[in-house]
Amino acid sequence: MISGGNSLTAAVLLLIMMKVFSVLTLSCPSTMYQAQEDLCCPKCPAGNRVKTDCTKTANTSCVACEGGTHMDKPSGLKQCIHCTICDPRFGLKENRTCTSTLDTICEPQDGFYCVGLAAGSCVAAHEHRQCQPGEYIKQTGTALRDTECSDCSNGTFSDGTLKFCWPHRVCESLNLKLITPGNATTDAQCEEQDHHKVVLISIGCFFLLLLSAILIALCVIKKKSMCLNRDEKTSVCLTKVKKTKNEEGKTEGEPLNN
Ligand SMILES: *[C@@H]1O[C@H](CO)[C@@H](O)[C@H](O)[C@H]1NC(C)=O
Ligand SMILES: *[C@@H]1O[C@H](CO)[C@@H](O)[C@H](O)[C@H]1NC(C)=O
Ligand SMILES: *[C@@H]1O[C@H](CO)[C@@H](O)[C@H](O)[C@H]1NC(C)=O
Ligand SMILES: *[C@@H]1O[C@H](CO)[C@@H](O)[C@H](O)[C@H]1NC(C)=O
Repeated sequence: MISGGNSLTAAVLLLIMMKVFSVLTLSCPSTMYQAQEDLCCPKCPAGNRVKTDCTKTANTSCVACEGGTHMDKPSGLKQCIHCTICDPRFGLKENRTCTSTLDTICEPQDGFYCVGLAAGSCVAAHEHRQCQPGEYIKQTGTALRDTECSDCSNGTFSDGTLKFCWPHRVCESLNLKLITPGNATTDAQCEEQDHHKVVLISIGCFFLLLLSAILIALCVIKKKSMCLNRDEKTSVCLTKVKKTKNEEGKTEGEPLNN
């Protein structure tokens, strides 16, 4: 009994094993799929899905993929595959629209670069970094590469939006006064040298006045010497001078004496 029971169990197990084995070993040709345990059906072509499996007497029935689905190769699947959506929240946009036989291809949006590729389609993109003030754009970003930034060298500055840094202006060479020295983010600040100008103009005026005074003095001296040198007019000149001196003395003297 015991041995009989054992053999029965063994037989059942063997049957199960054989069944499993047969299922595992049943392999359909690549153009077919396994519909039932012992039935291979022709696959539906790309762009289609299986509507009903074949039977011993009827072929597989197929329908075209529709409504944002696709099937890129012949298959025995009963559902088409949803087309990939290029999510703008991941920095993506469509490069190729989905068809019934080809899935969407996504690419980075402008100003983004791809950080993950799958089957030639970008699955995630990051925005290009912005160069900071004090840096310049060493290498503009592409769809596959981030922007590269570099520090401005000494004596130059940039707001980070250019492919180079401007040299600081040298106030002295512009004949201006340095107010604030430049740094990597800001140009040097210069100021008109107002103080110097005022001084220069003052000096100029002073010399002009001095020159005028000298000229006037020279004229007066020349006039006097002319009077002295010419005999005939000497007396007239002298009396004139005397007269004016007397008159001056009178006019000045009167209010003083009173
Ligand atoms: C059976 O269906 C498949 C898939 O639709 C097709 O490729 C094949 O030509 C069909 N065979 C016959 C005999 O109709
Ligand atoms: C799709 O990508 C290819 C290769 O990157 C590119 O040459 C083409 O311009 C892109 N097409 C569109 C519509 O963006
Ligand atoms: C720039 O200036 C800093 C500080 O003065 C100095 O340490 C550095 O070596 C300089 N770099 C160059 C390239 O001259
Ligand atoms: C550069 O100079 C500007 C203006 O003088 C100042 O606001 C800024 O803080 C400076 N930056 C650095 C890094 O020193």
